[in-house]
Amino acid sequence: MRISAALLAVTLATASSLAVRAEEKSKADFSQSELKAKSDYCKTCHGLQGQGFRGSYPMPRLAGQQPEYLVNQLKAFIERRRNNPVMFNVAHVLTPHMEKAMAEQFNHLDPKPLDGASKENLTEGKKIYLEGIPKSDVPACASCHGDDAKGRDAFPRLAGQLHDYVYNKLTNWDKERGQDKNNPDNSAIMQPIAHSLTDAQIRTVAAYLSTIE
Ligand code: HEC
Ligand code: HEC
Repeated sequence: MRISAALLAVTLATASSLAVRAEEKSKADFSQSELKAKSDYCKTCHGLQGQGFRGSYPMPRLAGQQPEYLVNQLKAFIERRRNNPVMFNVAHVLTPHMEKAMAEQFNHLDPKPLDGASKENLTEGKKIYLEGIPKSDVPACASCHGDDAKGRDAFPRLAGQLHDYVYNKLTNWDKERGQDKNNPDNSAIMQPIAHSLTDAQIRTVAAYLSTIE
Protein backbone atom coordinates (compact mmCIF):
# COMPACT_ATOMS: atom_id res chain seq x y z
CA MET A 1 0.00 0.00 0.00
CA ARG A 2 1.35 3.47 -0.87
CA ILE A 3 1.63 6.28 1.66
CA SER A 4 -0.76 9.05 0.78
CA ALA A 5 1.12 12.32 0.42
CA ALA A 6 -2.10 14.21 1.18
CA LEU A 7 -2.59 12.32 4.43
CA LEU A 8 0.99 13.05 5.40
CA ALA A 9 0.56 16.77 4.74
CA VAL A 10 -2.75 16.99 6.61
CA THR A 11 -1.66 15.06 9.68
CA LEU A 12 1.65 16.84 10.04
CA ALA A 13 -0.05 20.24 9.62
CA THR A 14 -2.52 19.38 12.40
CA ALA A 15 0.29 18.36 14.70
CA SER A 16 2.23 21.58 14.25
CA SER A 17 -0.82 23.84 14.67
CA LEU A 18 -1.50 22.10 17.99
CA ALA A 19 2.06 22.81 19.06
CA VAL A 20 1.68 26.50 18.15
CA ARG A 21 -1.52 26.80 20.14
CA ALA A 22 0.15 25.28 23.20
CA GLU A 23 2.98 27.80 22.86
CA GLU A 24 0.63 30.78 22.74
CA LYS A 25 -0.70 30.17 26.24
CA SER A 26 0.66 32.30 29.10
CA LYS A 27 4.17 32.21 30.63
CA ALA A 28 5.83 29.29 32.43
CA ASP A 29 3.52 27.83 35.05
CA PHE A 30 6.16 25.87 36.98
CA SER A 31 9.39 26.53 38.89
CA GLN A 32 12.81 25.14 37.99
CA SER A 33 12.73 22.85 41.02
CA GLU A 34 9.35 21.46 39.97
CA LEU A 35 10.76 20.82 36.50
CA LYS A 36 13.79 19.03 37.96
CA ALA A 37 11.64 16.92 40.26
CA LYS A 38 9.48 15.86 37.32
CA SER A 39 12.34 15.01 35.01
CA ASP A 40 14.11 13.10 37.81
CA TYR A 41 10.90 11.09 38.04
CA CYS A 42 10.89 10.37 34.27
CA LYS A 43 14.50 9.18 34.58
CA THR A 44 13.61 6.55 37.18
CA CYS A 45 12.08 4.66 34.25
CA HIS A 46 13.73 6.14 31.14
CA GLY A 47 17.30 6.06 32.51
CA LEU A 48 19.42 8.72 34.24
CA GLN A 49 20.62 10.05 30.87
CA GLY A 50 17.35 9.25 29.08
CA GLN A 51 19.14 6.32 27.43
CA GLY A 52 16.25 3.92 28.13
CA PHE A 53 16.05 1.05 30.57
CA ARG A 54 15.11 -2.62 30.60
CA GLY A 55 12.72 -3.46 33.43
CA SER A 56 9.89 -5.97 33.16
CA TYR A 57 9.47 -4.36 29.73
CA PRO A 58 11.66 -1.99 27.73
CA MET A 59 11.37 1.73 28.59
CA PRO A 60 12.20 3.71 25.47
CA ARG A 61 15.18 6.02 25.04
CA LEU A 62 14.11 9.69 25.18
CA ALA A 63 17.60 11.19 24.82
CA GLY A 64 18.00 13.21 21.62
CA GLN A 65 14.33 12.71 20.77
CA GLN A 66 12.67 15.38 18.62
CA PRO A 67 10.75 17.72 20.99
CA GLU A 68 7.73 17.94 18.67
CA TYR A 69 7.41 14.15 18.46
CA LEU A 70 7.86 13.79 22.24
CA VAL A 71 5.09 16.31 23.00
CA ASN A 72 2.82 14.67 20.40
CA GLN A 73 3.22 11.34 22.20
CA LEU A 74 2.45 12.83 25.63
CA LYS A 75 -0.77 14.27 24.17
CA ALA A 76 -1.57 10.96 22.50
CA PHE A 77 -1.20 9.14 25.86
CA ILE A 78 -3.39 11.75 27.62
CA GLU A 79 -6.11 11.58 24.96
CA ARG A 80 -5.79 7.79 24.86
CA ARG A 81 -5.03 7.78 21.16
CA ARG A 82 -1.92 5.87 22.22
CA ASN A 83 -2.65 3.07 24.58
CA ASN A 84 -0.37 2.80 27.65
CA PRO A 85 -1.75 2.95 31.20
CA VAL A 86 1.62 3.81 32.79
CA MET A 87 2.22 6.81 30.56
CA PHE A 88 -1.40 7.98 30.82
CA ASN A 89 -0.95 8.31 34.58
CA VAL A 90 2.40 10.05 34.20
CA ALA A 91 1.38 12.45 31.42
CA HIS A 92 -2.10 13.66 32.30
CA VAL A 93 -0.84 15.82 35.21
CA LEU A 94 1.66 17.75 33.02
CA THR A 95 0.83 21.25 31.74
CA PRO A 96 1.64 22.14 28.09
CA HIS A 97 4.58 24.30 29.25
CA MET A 98 5.97 21.50 31.36
CA GLU A 99 5.68 19.07 28.44
CA LYS A 100 7.61 21.40 26.19
CA ALA A 101 10.34 22.17 28.74
CA MET A 102 10.84 18.48 29.41
CA ALA A 103 10.98 17.70 25.70
CA GLU A 104 13.77 20.28 25.30
CA GLN A 105 15.71 18.79 28.23
CA PHE A 106 15.62 15.25 26.84
CA ASN A 107 16.52 16.53 23.37
CA HIS A 108 19.83 17.82 24.74
CA LEU A 109 20.96 14.52 26.28
CA ASP A 110 23.32 12.36 24.23
CA PRO A 111 24.31 9.14 26.01
CA LYS A 112 25.65 6.05 24.21
CA PRO A 113 22.95 3.61 23.05
CA LEU A 114 22.11 0.67 25.31
CA ASP A 115 23.48 -2.58 23.95
CA GLY A 116 21.76 -5.94 23.72
CA ALA A 117 20.71 -6.64 20.11
CA SER A 118 21.99 -9.51 17.99
CA LYS A 119 24.71 -8.25 15.64
CA GLU A 120 24.07 -10.96 13.05
CA ASN A 121 22.05 -9.20 10.36
CA LEU A 122 22.97 -5.58 10.77
CA THR A 123 23.78 -5.16 7.06
CA GLU A 124 20.31 -6.33 6.09
CA GLY A 125 18.73 -4.00 8.67
CA LYS A 126 20.76 -1.11 7.31
CA LYS A 127 19.67 -1.90 3.75
CA ILE A 128 15.97 -1.91 4.74
CA TYR A 129 16.47 1.34 6.63
CA LEU A 130 18.19 3.17 3.76
CA GLU A 131 16.47 1.61 0.73
CA GLY A 132 13.16 0.17 1.93
CA ILE A 133 11.79 -3.07 0.47
CA PRO A 134 10.51 -2.24 -3.02
CA LYS A 135 8.83 -5.61 -3.61
CA SER A 136 6.67 -5.18 -0.48
CA ASP A 137 6.04 -1.46 -1.12
CA VAL A 138 7.96 -0.50 2.02
CA PRO A 139 9.49 2.97 1.54
CA ALA A 140 12.97 3.76 2.83
CA CYS A 141 12.73 4.50 6.55
CA ALA A 142 15.44 7.11 6.00
CA SER A 143 13.15 9.14 3.73
CA CYS A 144 11.16 10.18 6.82
CA HIS A 145 13.40 9.42 9.80
CA GLY A 146 16.58 10.81 8.17
CA ASP A 147 19.73 9.09 6.88
CA ASP A 148 21.25 9.43 10.37
CA ALA A 149 17.96 8.29 12.01
CA LYS A 150 17.85 11.43 14.15
CA GLY A 151 14.34 12.33 12.97
CA ARG A 152 12.93 15.81 12.40
CA ASP A 153 9.94 17.65 13.90
CA ALA A 154 7.08 15.13 14.16
CA PHE A 155 9.25 12.32 12.72
CA PRO A 156 10.86 10.56 15.65
CA ARG A 157 14.53 9.86 16.20
CA LEU A 158 15.13 6.10 16.03
CA ALA A 159 18.93 6.17 16.47
CA GLY A 160 20.00 4.29 19.59
CA GLN A 161 16.45 3.22 20.45
CA LEU A 162 16.15 -0.08 22.35
CA HIS A 163 15.79 -2.90 19.84
CA ASP A 164 13.15 -4.72 21.91
CA TYR A 165 11.10 -1.53 22.29
CA VAL A 166 11.17 -0.93 18.51
CA TYR A 167 10.26 -4.58 17.92
CA ASN A 168 7.28 -4.35 20.27
CA LYS A 169 6.02 -1.09 18.72
CA LEU A 170 6.19 -2.29 15.12
CA THR A 171 4.57 -5.61 16.03
CA ASN A 172 1.68 -4.08 17.99
CA TRP A 173 1.09 -0.87 16.04
CA ASP A 174 -2.69 -1.32 15.59
CA LYS A 175 -3.31 -2.25 19.21
CA GLU A 176 -1.45 0.73 20.66
CA ARG A 177 -1.42 3.66 18.27
CA GLY A 178 -4.23 5.60 16.57
CA GLN A 179 -6.84 4.31 19.03
CA ASP A 180 -9.34 7.14 18.47
CA LYS A 181 -10.84 6.53 15.06
CA ASN A 182 -12.58 9.94 15.15
CA ASN A 183 -9.32 11.72 15.75
CA PRO A 184 -6.69 10.24 13.43
CA ASP A 185 -3.08 11.25 14.06
CA ASN A 186 0.44 10.83 12.68
CA SER A 187 0.44 7.16 13.67
CA ALA A 188 -1.61 6.51 10.50
CA ILE A 189 1.50 7.25 8.44
CA MET A 190 3.40 4.32 9.96
CA GLN A 191 0.48 1.89 10.03
CA PRO A 192 0.84 0.41 6.51
CA ILE A 193 4.62 0.29 6.89
CA ALA A 194 4.49 -1.62 10.17
CA HIS A 195 2.04 -4.05 8.53
CA SER A 196 4.21 -4.74 5.49
CA LEU A 197 7.28 -5.80 7.49
CA THR A 198 7.82 -9.46 8.38
CA ASP A 199 8.89 -10.49 11.86
CA ALA A 200 12.45 -11.16 10.66
CA GLN A 201 12.64 -7.79 8.88
CA ILE A 202 11.47 -5.98 12.02
CA ARG A 203 14.14 -7.74 14.11
CA THR A 204 16.96 -6.84 11.76
CA VAL A 205 15.98 -3.19 11.31
CA ALA A 206 15.42 -2.82 15.09
CA ALA A 207 18.88 -4.30 15.76
CA TYR A 208 20.48 -1.94 13.24
CA LEU A 209 18.75 1.13 14.75
CA SER A 210 19.88 0.21 18.26
CA THR A 211 23.55 0.51 17.20
CA ILE A 212 23.36 4.05 15.75
CA GLU A 213 24.86 6.78 17.95
C1 HEC B 1 6.84 4.10 35.70
C2 HEC B 1 7.72 4.17 34.54
C3 HEC B 1 7.67 5.45 33.70
C4 HEC B 1 7.80 6.76 34.12
C5 HEC B 1 7.94 7.29 35.53
C6 HEC B 1 7.78 7.56 32.91
N1 HEC B 1 7.65 6.77 31.81
FE1 HEC B 1 7.51 7.40 29.87
N2 HEC B 1 7.25 5.49 29.25
C7 HEC B 1 7.21 4.38 30.07
C8 HEC B 1 6.96 3.20 29.26
C9 HEC B 1 6.85 1.78 29.76
C10 HEC B 1 6.84 3.65 27.93
C11 HEC B 1 6.59 2.79 26.69
C12 HEC B 1 5.15 2.74 26.36
C13 HEC B 1 4.93 1.87 25.16
O1 HEC B 1 5.53 0.78 25.12
O2 HEC B 1 4.19 2.28 24.27
C14 HEC B 1 7.02 5.09 27.96
C15 HEC B 1 6.96 5.91 26.83
C16 HEC B 1 7.17 7.27 26.84
C17 HEC B 1 7.17 8.11 25.67
C18 HEC B 1 6.99 7.65 24.23
C19 HEC B 1 8.37 7.45 23.63
C20 HEC B 1 8.40 7.10 22.18
O3 HEC B 1 9.50 6.88 21.67
O4 HEC B 1 7.35 7.03 21.55
C21 HEC B 1 7.41 9.37 26.08
C22 HEC B 1 7.50 10.61 25.22
C23 HEC B 1 7.57 9.34 27.52
N3 HEC B 1 7.42 8.03 27.95
C24 HEC B 1 7.85 10.44 28.29
C25 HEC B 1 7.94 10.42 29.68
C26 HEC B 1 8.12 11.60 30.48
C27 HEC B 1 8.30 13.02 29.95
C28 HEC B 1 8.12 11.18 31.79
C29 HEC B 1 8.19 12.02 33.05
C30 HEC B 1 7.21 13.09 33.17
C31 HEC B 1 7.94 9.73 31.78
N4 HEC B 1 7.84 9.32 30.47
C32 HEC B 1 7.90 8.95 32.91
C33 HEC B 1 7.41 4.35 31.43
C34 HEC B 1 7.56 5.47 32.25
C1 HEC C 1 6.28 8.28 5.25
C2 HEC C 1 7.12 8.58 6.40
C3 HEC C 1 7.66 7.40 7.22
C4 HEC C 1 8.38 6.32 6.76
C5 HEC C 1 8.77 5.98 5.32
C6 HEC C 1 8.71 5.53 7.92
N1 HEC C 1 8.23 6.13 9.05
FE1 HEC C 1 8.39 5.42 10.96
N2 HEC C 1 7.26 6.98 11.64
C7 HEC C 1 6.77 8.01 10.88
C8 HEC C 1 6.03 8.92 11.73
C9 HEC C 1 5.34 10.21 11.29
C10 HEC C 1 6.07 8.38 13.03
C11 HEC C 1 5.43 8.97 14.29
C12 HEC C 1 4.02 8.46 14.44
C13 HEC C 1 3.29 9.09 15.59
O1 HEC C 1 3.52 10.27 15.91
O2 HEC C 1 2.46 8.39 16.19
C14 HEC C 1 6.86 7.16 12.94
C15 HEC C 1 7.13 6.33 14.03
C16 HEC C 1 7.93 5.21 13.98
C17 HEC C 1 8.26 4.38 15.11
C18 HEC C 1 7.81 4.58 16.55
C19 HEC C 1 8.91 5.27 17.30
C20 HEC C 1 8.72 5.31 18.77
O3 HEC C 1 9.61 5.87 19.43
O4 HEC C 1 7.76 4.74 19.29
C21 HEC C 1 9.09 3.39 14.66
C22 HEC C 1 9.71 2.28 15.48
C23 HEC C 1 9.26 3.60 13.24
N3 HEC C 1 8.55 4.71 12.85
C24 HEC C 1 10.05 2.80 12.43
C25 HEC C 1 10.12 2.91 11.05
C26 HEC C 1 10.83 1.97 10.19
C27 HEC C 1 11.62 0.78 10.68
C28 HEC C 1 10.63 2.37 8.90
C29 HEC C 1 11.08 1.72 7.62
C30 HEC C 1 10.77 0.32 7.45
C31 HEC C 1 9.81 3.61 8.98
N4 HEC C 1 9.54 3.89 10.29
C32 HEC C 1 9.41 4.34 7.88
C33 HEC C 1 6.95 8.17 9.51
C34 HEC C 1 7.58 7.27 8.67
